[in-house]
Amino acid sequence: MLVSAKEMLNKARDGHYAVGQFNINNLEWTKCILQTAEELKAPVILGVSEGAGKYMCGYDTVVGMVKGMIKCLNITVPVALHLDHGTFEGAKACINAGFSSIMFDGSHYPIDENLKLTTALVNTCDILGISLEAEVGAIGGEEDGVVGMGECADPAECKMIADLGVTMLAAGIGNIHGKYPENWPGLRFDVLENIKKEVGDMPLVLHGGTGIPEEMVKKAINLGVAKVNVNTECQIAFSAATRKYIEEGKDLVGKGFDPRKVLAPGCEAIKATVKEKMEIFGCIGKA
Ligand code: 13P
Repeated sequence: MLVSAKEMLNKARDGHYAVGQFNINNLEWTKCILQTAEELKAPVILGVSEGAGKYMCGYDTVVGMVKGMIKCLNITVPVALHLDHGTFEGAKACINAGFSSIMFDGSHYPIDENLKLTTALVNTCDILGISLEAEVGAIGGEEDGVVGMGECADPAECKMIADLGVTMLAAGIGNIHGKYPENWPGLRFDVLENIKKEVGDMPLVLHGGTGIPEEMVKKAINLGVAKVNVNTECQIAFSAATRKYIEEGKDLVGKGFDPRKVLAPGCEAIKATVKEKMEIFGCIGKA
């Protein structure tokens, strides 16, 4: 069954570990992430960007696919289906389609507008039992054409958004989407500490989980991060394994061209990446 992310994140915050959000792009991605979570008895959040939602033929298709898989694969661990970096319109569409968790990313609006639009979603999500993630301080890098500048969030603004009653808060602390540049100075733990002081118990979300050194991720979790988002790293692992299969000419041997065979090494690579991340996040066995 799909569940809100609220309970799993509150437990993670109290237990000093983080739940992984892994973004899905297609059937293989979804299946690999669900199977790994079940195998490791870890709660999991499936992230869907608006671009990926469109690619997968719309939110109704995504909900149908995920629900079907949970049933067919006998998935017993808590699974939240979460809109990633949603617009206000996207958030409404996902609520209607049956997502169990929503992110409304109002970080590119002036804070008053972000507060106004986030407020409009708080009550609806509350009534429907859907978890809601808000964002302050745009995450850097580029994701699905949305380019953030990697600002650090203002702790006072974080408090204003947290006080609205959202479930979790993404606050920029120098993190960026995609690969980190060589000269990246690292996460701003001083900013994270100040945010935590302002927002109290609110579970914090660390976006841009790809390529952040393990020790930094663990320190962020100790300081109040309860959800870490990973997308690019699964994509890199998938494409490297697929390239190897093709370059070794395996598709030219027997029925090696069968799509299920072509995609199998990439799937194994996604599973290994998800497992490695879950080990770092400390969520294995927490379902
Ligand atoms: P990465 O692609 O850098 O792992 O970031 C994922 C993310 O934050 C999704 O919101």
